[in-house]
Amino acid sequence: MWKNKFHIEAEKGLVNDPNGLIFWKGEYHVFFQLNPKSCEHIFKNWGHIKTRDLVNWEKLPIALSPTDWFDKDGCYSGSAIEKDGKLYLMYTGNVKNNGTRESYQCLAVSEDGINFKKLGPVIHNDDIPKGYTRHFRDPKLFKKNGKFYMVLGAQREDLTGTILLYSSEDIFNWNFEQEIIKGNFGYMCECPDYYEINEQGVLVFSPQGLKAEGIFYNNRYQSGYILRGLRETGKNNFTELDRGFEFYAPQSFIGKDGERIMFGWIGMPEELDHPSVEEGHIHSLTLPRIMEIKNNKLYQRPHTDLQKLRKNKKEIEDLEINGEVNLKKFNINGTTYEMILKFENINSDLILNIRAGKKNKTVLKYDYENKLFILDRENSGRGYKGIRKCALDILKEIHIFSDTSCVEIYLNNGEEVFTANIYPEKDDRNIILFGNNIKAEKIEFYEI
Ligand code: FRU
Repeated sequence: MWKNKFHIEAEKGLVNDPNGLIFWKGEYHVFFQLNPKSCEHIFKNWGHIKTRDLVNWEKLPIALSPTDWFDKDGCYSGSAIEKDGKLYLMYTGNVKNNGTRESYQCLAVSEDGINFKKLGPVIHNDDIPKGYTRHFRDPKLFKKNGKFYMVLGAQREDLTGTILLYSSEDIFNWNFEQEIIKGNFGYMCECPDYYEINEQGVLVFSPQGLKAEGIFYNNRYQSGYILRGLRETGKNNFTELDRGFEFYAPQSFIGKDGERIMFGWIGMPEELDHPSVEEGHIHSLTLPRIMEIKNNKLYQRPHTDLQKLRKNKKEIEDLEINGEVNLKKFNINGTTYEMILKFENINSDLILNIRAGKKNKTVLKYDYENKLFILDRENSGRGYKGIRKCALDILKEIHIFSDTSCVEIYLNNGEEVFTANIYPEKDDRNIILFGNNIKAEKIEFYEI
């Protein structure tokens, strides 16, 4: 009942971080943390799928399983890189002996992109530099000026989180260069990523232990970015990537047309109380998002390949909203769909209820006076509840992807995004607008 239709997830078991994302030999490879046996955070394998178009996915055999001494308690997160025509994966081998953690950064290689041969650790637990604990994981590799680099999540001995930079000529021998983040980022920084868009550096990571401050950092753990160069440790202006409830450990890579694409995990560590567990599966990945920088801010919009999912277009033009408008009268409602609403000069509050029925509704609200956009899932059905808000000066566009048990809401062409799980009833299908003197220039609706 809660299986999503167009989000990546497992038939059975638990999915977490996207791993090893790469466009290689004409195909996109997506790997992800997978416990194929149960909905618990144990027995982490690398699930694997591939596609030519980011829409039609082919399921492949599990790429990595925790079967060796250096990864026996989990093939943890990592990344992919091409070298000499071969596909390499670098991941963290998690080992626990009598409660003591060891971390090994390991390589695996494939010639066909399907079968992977483990090459074992290239950074041993004993190689962890002085001053850092064994919370040392999630290698993200990239190439810059002919040299290989890796950013790695780490914890200092004083139990604060940081990110380390390594470099290598050949991906087998790694040199520890420096810490690349200062400032207070909680007790651990997981899943770092670094890339450049038009020469502007972007450092993405998932800090654990930030305290909520007003509308910021309200989730258990955060995922965000700083616009800065690789070694520009002085810049600490951290911005959350997603304003919803479930979003963590994103990873990016370069797509077919040179675009920067990101997938995130629709989930949150330690939050396992989702109704889908009753069906034996939990969590999914976000849709692929194209990352761009505008006005000193990272924008994320749904990848254009996703337009292939669109079916049965319906369109409304110049809709006057005065009071309540149920889009059912235009034959627009549903559970799995894409919808784009464009507005002209909003100067009062707007409410949009989706997945609404007799009892349930998921409420999207633009609070005009306070210039806030609000996602309210207090009455969404089963599962976690709550309200998330973000500042938004003007509301011009709401772009929604609704899947069986999750929604992704993109505002103003990717200025802000809210991702969340919701678990309404099957027949909670209504889409209802409320407002005063508001004009929707255009509403596009596509079944998926
Ligand atoms: C983030 C994370 C990573 C780790 C992986 C294990 O969600 O905790 O730091 O590599 O999940 O599944």
